[in-house]
Amino acid sequence: MNPQFWDNRYATEDFVYGTAPNDFLRQCANYIPDGPVLCLGEGEGRNAVYLATRGYNVTALDQSAVGLAKAEKLAAEHGVSITTVATRLEEYPIDPEAWSAIVAIFLHLPPFLRREVHAAAAAGLHSGGVFILEAYAPGQVQHRTGGPVTNPEMLMSLDQLHGDLIGLEMEIGREVERDVIEGKGHTGRAAVVQVLARRG
Ligand SMILES: C[S@@+](CC[C@H](N)C(=O)[O-])C[C@H]1O[C@@H](n2cnc3c(N)ncnc32)[C@H](O)[C@@H]1O
Repeated sequence: MNPQFWDNRYATEDFVYGTAPNDFLRQCANYIPDGPVLCLGEGEGRNAVYLATRGYNVTALDQSAVGLAKAEKLAAEHGVSITTVATRLEEYPIDPEAWSAIVAIFLHLPPFLRREVHAAAAAGLHSGGVFILEAYAPGQVQHRTGGPVTNPEMLMSLDQLHGDLIGLEMEIGREVERDVIEGKGHTGRAAVVQVLARRG
């Protein structure tokens, strides 16, 4: 999906994925060490703003400038600030050993790019840093309650993530079904994969 697609999706007063953080991120937040956090494909900013309210120095990256403008507005409403970077992941080099956490919530990429970005994210963590991911898993084609079900190669399995996250130790790695109620864009029973992985 190109930036124009996402700009159009976000060109509404509503927050398409809500303003509350992702449930799995909330469960993992206590495991993030102090330091800078990078949120990939952060859209309208709900997760970045949540982490900023917890005291982290957060950078939110997305290809949609429209989404990131909403993220900055949401941050201001919560009395925090975040750094936003409007770019495609294809053009953003993740600095090595730079981040305490890298977060990817419902970021679905074509397989070659997914592998590249996940490897760079793994290398981008400093020692003790964590990678946190929730995404729709292959079983989501049965549910059709969100995610790229018409492009199933963009869904991801736990096995694929084990292969992607070179050098990280998985502290949580599971495929589960859960009720995802996160804005109009993600609503209903869903098959997801969840990962919390740490650089040693
Ligand atoms: C389903 S939304 C999820 C937004 C946010 N993570 C959340 O949970 O609310 C996926 C986001 O990934 C972004 N994205 C997808 N491919 C991207 C790419 N190649 N470069 C940068 N952003 C990308 C889209 O612009 C979109 O905002």
